[in-house]
Amino acid sequence: MIELEDLSKRYGDRLAVDHLSCTIRPGVVTGFLGPNGAGKSTTMRMMLDLDSPTGGTVRIDGKHYRQLHNPLRTVGALLDAKAVHGGRSAWNHLLCLARSNGIPRSRVGEVLDLVGLTPVARKRAKGFSLGMGQRLGIAAALLGDPRILMFDEPVNGLDPEGIHWIRTLMKSLAGQGRTVFVSSHLMSEMALTADHLIVIGQGRLLADTSMADFIARNARSFVLMRSPEQERLKDVLSGAGITAVPGASGALEVSGEDAAHLGELAARHRIVLHELSPQRASLEEAFMRLTAGSVEYHARTGTGG
Ligand SMILES: Nc1ncnc2c1ncn2[C@@H]1O[C@H](COP(=O)(O)OP(=O)(O)OP(=O)(O)O)[C@@H](O)[C@H]1O
Ligand SMILES: [Mg+2]
Repeated sequence: MIELEDLSKRYGDRLAVDHLSCTIRPGVVTGFLGPNGAGKSTTMRMMLDLDSPTGGTVRIDGKHYRQLHNPLRTVGALLDAKAVHGGRSAWNHLLCLARSNGIPRSRVGEVLDLVGLTPVARKRAKGFSLGMGQRLGIAAALLGDPRILMFDEPVNGLDPEGIHWIRTLMKSLAGQGRTVFVSSHLMSEMALTADHLIVIGQGRLLADTSMADFIARNARSFVLMRSPEQERLKDVLSGAGITAVPGASGALEVSGEDAAHLGELAARHRIVLHELSPQRASLEEAFMRLTAGSVEYHARTGTGG
């Protein structure tokens, strides 16, 4: 379990993390979301005592990071995959970490195998691709077989097979009762991986809720209806007190009604339907809506001119 209490971090006149309080619980994958510059990495660095808070506290299983005896055995983290001495081999890098944390040498081979780096274990890390570097960082996080795992953008640079592997790994780690905390910008991936979400914007907590609840609260679901008798369908709906608005490519969008009920209503009036499809709101849509006010780095659409 990770507990943040009133955690803040100031850089000059900027409050990068603003009085953040939340608890990251074991047994589920908790996704950590926020626009660029929201303060995710800063929060994670403070959790690991790599940065000191301006105010507030972080407790890892009830203790401050500094009070942990062999930290890697309690909390494993991937924050910056490039934080490896390039001249060292993957094997040596992990061996150094194992030695300084009282972890048996045999565990090095085990984690290399787990992340699929055994064939390149003796190669220097500086020749590694982005994806191989991520895998090495994940191996380091798993080295001490910790109860708590933290990953900052772990799928960065991974190919589809690697992304799938990470998703399965995180779910199985959480399934073993561990605490898994992961940040990512890939919403479609997060939607498949995380059970719980913590969303921040400009350092402040915007949401701390289950994935399903987050989507239900922040995105719109509706039923798409398409008929060759669109006008008559609209009249029938409106006669039943149901509002339909024109949607994409001439279809009608109906919110707040169940598809089965709409289908039966059309059938009673002998209206042919070419489409009757419930549209599930996406995590991406919910995220964009919630964070719209706290996005700092907006790009223009189009190429200008
Ligand atoms: N060492 C530092 N010195 C000064 N400002 C910093 C430092 N580290 C982070 N910041 C600032 O703190 C804010 C939060 O940055 P942080 O890297 O935590 O965001 P993030 O949510 O991880 O963003 P991203 O999604 O881009 O990784 C940013 O405005 C950033 O410029
Ligand atoms: Mg970051």
